[in-house]
Amino acid sequence: MKVLLISPEVSPLSKTGGLGDVAGALPQALRDIGVDARVLCPLYGDFEKDFLKTLHPIGPMRVNIGRSFRTARVQEGIIPGTDVPAYFLEHKSSFGRSGIYSGPKGNFPDNAERFLLLAKSALELPELTGWWPNALHLHDWTVALTPAFLNALPPKDRRRQWASILTIHNLMHQGVFPAETLNMTGLPNSYYNPDGLEHDGCLNMLKGGIHHATKITTVSPSYAREIQEEPLSQGLGHTLRHRAADLLGIVNGIDCEEWNPKKDAALTKNYSISQMDAGKLSCKANLLEELRLPSASERPLFFVVSRMDHQKGLDLLANVLPRLVKEHDMTFALLGSGDPNLENTYRSLASEYHDNIAAVIGFDECLARKMFAGGDFLVVPSRFEPCGLTQLYAMRYGTVPVVRRTGGLADTVIPWSEDSPDGTGIAYEGDGEWELLLAIEQALEVFAKKQKFQKLRKMSMKRDSSWGPSARAYSQAYSWAIEVRKEQI
Ligand code: ADP
Ligand code: GLC
Repeated sequence: MKVLLISPEVSPLSKTGGLGDVAGALPQALRDIGVDARVLCPLYGDFEKDFLKTLHPIGPMRVNIGRSFRTARVQEGIIPGTDVPAYFLEHKSSFGRSGIYSGPKGNFPDNAERFLLLAKSALELPELTGWWPNALHLHDWTVALTPAFLNALPPKDRRRQWASILTIHNLMHQGVFPAETLNMTGLPNSYYNPDGLEHDGCLNMLKGGIHHATKITTVSPSYAREIQEEPLSQGLGHTLRHRAADLLGIVNGIDCEEWNPKKDAALTKNYSISQMDAGKLSCKANLLEELRLPSASERPLFFVVSRMDHQKGLDLLANVLPRLVKEHDMTFALLGSGDPNLENTYRSLASEYHDNIAAVIGFDECLARKMFAGGDFLVVPSRFEPCGLTQLYAMRYGTVPVVRRTGGLADTVIPWSEDSPDGTGIAYEGDGEWELLLAIEQALEVFAKKQKFQKLRKMSMKRDSSWGPSARAYSQAYSWAIEVRKEQI
C-alpha cells in the first residue's frame, strides 16, 4: 500500500505543536509495518543550510490558483532521523519566510493562497515522481480541500481512484475565508453550499474536507465522540454527525527513540526505569539551576510545556498558583508562548513569587526535554484536548501528569487514587479552577508519601506510548478507505 501524507508541519524540520510531531513520526511507524508512506510538505525559509544540501531537485510543478499558474519547485529528500522519503514544495513567495501560519503581525494574510498551493500540489506530484499512491492522508485544515479537488476531477482521470483520509488534529482551526476564495480554488460553484464548503457565509476548508474525504479520523476516540456534540463541535456538529459512520478516533503515539530518557542528549544524566530515582534527581537539580529556582530538590516541581492558547486552560492555572505556593512548599515552572496577556501574567507571577515560580516565554525543545525529565508533575488543565502529546512525553520520562479528563488526556492517562494504585497520573473531572486546585493538592499528597509516589511514577513510565498500535489502526483505515473509494467510482 502506498500512502502520501501531506502536512504543513513535519518535525524536526517545522513544528508549532503536536501536528509536527505526528507528521514526523507516523510515516516511519507506517513504513515499519510495510506501508510505503511518504510525505509532502512545504520547504520553509528557515530550514537549515546543511539539510538543504541533502535535497535533490526533481523538477518544476505548475499549479493553478484562481486564473493564474504558480510554478513551484519540488525537492526530494529524507526526513532527518528517519528513512521516510519526502517531497518538499519550494515556492519562495509562499513558504520562503519564517513562520508556518503566522508572523509577528498575526496570521499571514495570504494563508488561503499559500495552503491551496500545498493542497493542490498533491495532485500534480505523481507526474513528477512516477510514484502513484493508493491513498492521500491529509492533516488539518490547510490541506483539507485536497479530497474536494479529487472529486472534481473528470471521471476518467486516474487520480480519482485515490482514497482520501482527513485527520482532524484540532477542530478549533477550520481555515475560514471569505466566500470569494472559492474562485481561487477553481472548484465548481456547486461545491459551495451548506452541505459542502460553505459555512455561515464563508468558505470553510475543514468543513469541505469533512464532506469530501473518503474517511475522517481524529486523534483520540474520546475527541471523536466529543466533536459530534456541543460544546466541542465548533459549529460543525451537524456535518460531523452526518459522516459519523466514516469518522474514527485513533490515539497519537510518540517516537520512543527520539524521546528516550536513556539516550536523550539534552539531559545531564540519562536513565532507564531501574535508575529513575537517581536520574531524575540529577536532572531536577540541573533544571532548578537553569530556571534560577532555589536548589531545594525535595520540594515537588510542577510544570507546563505548552502553547499559550485559551484551549490550554493556563488562565485557570494562573489563578490558583498564588494560593498553591502560599499554602504549600512547592515550585512551578512554565515554558510556553502565545497569548501576550497570558505571557505577561506568568511573567508577573514569576517575579512576584521568584522563590517558587519560574516562567520561560519562548519555544525551546531542549528545555522542554529537561523539564520532562527533571519535573515531578506535568499539569495539563486543557478546556479541550484532541489528544495531547506532552502527557505522553512526561510519562515516558517518569513524570506524573495531572490532567483534565477530556479528549486524548482521558484516553491516555489512567486515573490514580488510593483505591486505584495502578493509575498513571492524576486525572480530574470538571472544568473549573477549584477542581484543578484539588487535583494539584491530590498530587502534593501523593508526593509526600514517597513509596506511593515512586510506584505512581513507575506506572507512568511503564506506559507504552509507541506508535505501533496506532500505525496499524491507520493502515486499517487506509485499507477501508481504498475499498470504499473503489466502490464509489
Ligand atoms: P498542541 O499540538 O495542541 O500544541 P500537543 O501536546 O499535542 O499540543 O503538542 C505540543 C508539542 O509542542 C509537544 O511536542 C510540546 O513539547 C511542544 N511544545 C509546546 N510548547 C513548547 C515550547 N514553548 N517549547 C518547546 N516545545 C513546546
Ligand atoms: C493538535 C491538538 C493536540 C494534538 C495535536 C497532534 O494541535 O491540539 O491535542 O495532540 O494536534 O495531533
